[in-house]
Amino acid sequence: MSFSSPRDGQTPTPDKILQIATGFMAAKHLLVASELGLFEKLAQGPSNIQQLSERMGISKISTRIIADAMVALGLLEKQNNSLYRNGPEVAAFLSGTSPRDLRPALRLMNNIAYLNWANLEKAIRSRQPSHFGHLDKEQQKIFSEGVEAFTAGAANHLADSYDFRKHKRVLDIGGGTGSFLLPLLRQYNNLEECALFELSDTAQVAKIRLGKEKLGEKVRVIEGDFMKSPIPSGYDLHILANVIHILSPEHVKELLSNIRRSVEPGTRLLLVDFWTDPTHTNPVMAAMYAGEFLVMSGEGDVYSVEDVREWLQDTGWKFVDHKPLTGPQSLVVAEAID
Ligand SMILES: C[S@@+](CC[C@H](N)C(=O)[O-])C[C@H]1O[C@@H](n2cnc3c(N)ncnc32)[C@H](O)[C@@H]1O
Repeated sequence: MSFSSPRDGQTPTPDKILQIATGFMAAKHLLVASELGLFEKLAQGPSNIQQLSERMGISKISTRIIADAMVALGLLEKQNNSLYRNGPEVAAFLSGTSPRDLRPALRLMNNIAYLNWANLEKAIRSRQPSHFGHLDKEQQKIFSEGVEAFTAGAANHLADSYDFRKHKRVLDIGGGTGSFLLPLLRQYNNLEECALFELSDTAQVAKIRLGKEKLGEKVRVIEGDFMKSPIPSGYDLHILANVIHILSPEHVKELLSNIRRSVEPGTRLLLVDFWTDPTHTNPVMAAMYAGEFLVMSGEGDVYSVEDVREWLQDTGWKFVDHKPLTGPQSLVVAEAID
């Protein structure tokens, strides 16, 4: 996601403004196309509008509008102005036939995030969470599955980016569906216990999700609130993935202190997040996600590596390293000091 600016001396055009301002149209077309199963249907083979409209159960006119929007955006190909087929990106991530499936992430954006964003102005003005921030049981499932799909790249990468061989007991705080623990269990047989600490509603989704995985029985699900209850002790490695960004700086420091109180010196803490450079504008996707985190929790934001380095120092941790993962997500490694 990048937009070039006119060079010195060139006359500005309105193109960049209009491209950004209409970006929601591209996004919503994509989210609806995925929700209707357009890419799944095309995975069965190239199809014309008549066939697609029958398979999706919508009118031919609507089918043409959504399919042509995808062609215009370069996600579908159209042959002889009649036969549609999946482009390489949607075939790899949205067709339901590949190992990395982003459909749940798009479902989260279509059913929860998009509605929340209607309240961005209110959230920016008053730092109030969107009233869609409180999820019912069905929305909670869509949310947790969507977060898992979105963060799967970073979760899989973490197992390769950090050496877990020296650890035995891992606690994933705000661990969602356990999706960061499963790749570790697949790769490291030295791990004696993996647990995730989660709010009750998410813990229920995690138990069902883990119940479908063979290695899921090795993950203990502990219910609790990391701002109110003590963090379970006895673990030599803690993971905090995509949790800091839902909190204000004050609450981040409270949480880091709370975790520090529960661990021995030398315990490692892995912080996976949308860490930015000192300007908070790079990666670009991180700067965009700042709005998502604010509108969702009313206090979230994206933070820089320098921000977290300072908060770690203030709360009894030593900053050890910063490493890339995938996309806009990266890893900060910290260690508890005496
Ligand atoms: C954005 S999700 C990240 C999930 C997972 N770590 C990942 O990266 O895929 C944030 C998680 O923090 C959990 N969470 C938020 N507030 C919490 C609290 N006070 N105590 C425990 N968990 C909390 C949420 O339930 C949610 O699953």
